[in-house]
Amino acid sequence: MTLAAALAIHQLLALLWVGGMFFAYQVLRPVAATGLEPPLRLPLWRGVFNRFFPWVWGAVVGLPLTGYGLVFGLYGGLGAVGWHVHLMQATGWLMIALFLLLYFGPWRTLQTALDADELPAAAAALNRIRQIVGANLLLGLVTATVAAAGRLLPL
Ligand code: HEM
Repeated sequence: MTLAAALAIHQLLALLWVGGMFFAYQVLRPVAATGLEPPLRLPLWRGVFNRFFPWVWGAVVGLPLTGYGLVFGLYGGLGAVGWHVHLMQATGWLMIALFLLLYFGPWRTLQTALDADELPAAAAALNRIRQIVGANLLLGLVTATVAAAGRLLPL
């Protein structure tokens, strides 16, 4: 893979992940919260995450792969990159850890609770997912901003 392709894929994966979280958190969530009762709202979110999370897995695997491909292929190692790349990898790994926490924690709980028709437990799991996605959205926006503008702001 060429370095240009690696950077293009890296940026696309970041767009999909952060843009998807923005839509879910900032747009869909307030509408679903006010317009739908739990028996409709909770299965809606299950369907939404079922379709979104495979894309997030692509980002979780692809971002470090392409990112370190660029670090070692383009810049010649971690010693040669700017502060913005160090910050990107730190916040990037934090985002990945939070997604894994969400996926193997409250996302599993949401599904088993809905299968058992336990709506209060499902609602509690959804609330936990909302908190983690909120934190990851903030981190993602900071990461993408630093990634794009950091090169022009030498510290
Ligand atoms: C996990 C480890 C990561 C590594 C090692 C990494 C590494 C890199 C490198 C080396 C570049 C090229 C920077 C330059 O040429 O100045 C880059 C660009 C970029 N990264 Fe990452 N990255 C990682 C995670 C992330 C994450 C999680 C996001 C967003 C959620 C992200 C968003 C971006 C964006 C938007 C660019 C393009 C910046 C531009 O050229 O306009 N990266 N990354």
